[in-house]
Amino acid sequence: METVLSGIRSTGHLHLGNYFGALRNYIKMQDEYNCFFFIADLHSLTTHPHPADFHAGVKTILCEYLASGLDPQKSAIFVQSDVPEVSELYVLLNMIAYKGELERTASFKEKVRKQEDNVNAGLLTYPVLMAADILIHRAHKVPVGKDQEQHLEMARVLARRFNNMYGTDVFPEPQAFNFGSDLVKVPGLDGSGKMGKSEGNGVYLIDDEKTIHKKVMKAVTDSGPTEPNSKMPDSIENIFTLLKIVSTPDTVAHFTEAYNNCSIRYGDLKKQLAADICKHTLPIRERIEEIYNDEAYLHNVAKRGRELARESASATLREVRAVVGFKSF
Ligand code: ADP
Ligand code: TRP
Repeated sequence: METVLSGIRSTGHLHLGNYFGALRNYIKMQDEYNCFFFIADLHSLTTHPHPADFHAGVKTILCEYLASGLDPQKSAIFVQSDVPEVSELYVLLNMIAYKGELERTASFKEKVRKQEDNVNAGLLTYPVLMAADILIHRAHKVPVGKDQEQHLEMARVLARRFNNMYGTDVFPEPQAFNFGSDLVKVPGLDGSGKMGKSEGNGVYLIDDEKTIHKKVMKAVTDSGPTEPNSKMPDSIENIFTLLKIVSTPDTVAHFTEAYNNCSIRYGDLKKQLAADICKHTLPIRERIEEIYNDEAYLHNVAKRGRELARESASATLREVRAVVGFKSF
């Protein structure tokens, strides 16, 4: 059976981009694969969260994972920092990752632009830690959104380089994965390219109905098409992209026709979009609230996840150590 692994950083709440780009695939994959899903708390340290908030960030993602349908009976659900083997593999992979290739990563260049007063080495080697996450479980498939494609390429490069350098086949080359074949990019409602936490344009799984309606009604639109079958501006196309993700094909066809014959009313389109987002997220929101207060359940899930993940990780690390030439006296 093939192995699947993925994770999300423990910064803030999960938004529709996380859910439809990544998490919904995790949930579907649980029945067919040997699955590992984790909370990337080490990765979140690149932005220096306050120690008093750090654990709450991890708890938030754990609850939101479970509320969305991740099943601890089917998958190993764990916290990255609970598996120290990852950090050791990270050190080993850092020895074969080159400064030039890391500096060329699009996400690094973006961080340098956005947080120029905190360009730490953890940001530079972010893709190496991500490769360690994946390779320590010898994962074949990694469900992620489109923005992670380049990081997956880096994981493949490092796997290949390690295998070649040591004449081994210990690491399979991991592939990014989405059920609909192409990786997904969920747009923001502000006319920008991508929904994201740092973009401040997110609709969150934890949002209540009123908040969702308010956010959607505020989405950027224009005065409407004046010529039949005209090309959509980006902000309108984004709304349709979201509609395709959350609504039925009939609804999409209805509003597409209305756009094409210039009878569309953006207020109606947005109301429908908000209602259909709510259909997906409100049941999750309810479960988040229940799970959040069940400390015993959360403890058991994280403990079981840690055990499964450490078992798998230590088996890989044993082989890797032997290959590199470590020997005990
Ligand atoms: P954020 O971008 O909000 O900081 P992360 O970088 O932690 O979120 O992303 C976690 C997962 O969610 C990754 O697999 C990423 O590809 C996916 N993801 C995040 N935003 C989007 C989006 N707008 N569209 C598709 N997938 C996304
Ligand atoms: N870098 C990913 C993100 O920001 C999170 C992540 C860390 C991850 N390690 C991973 C995703 C391993 C998949 C596999 O979205």
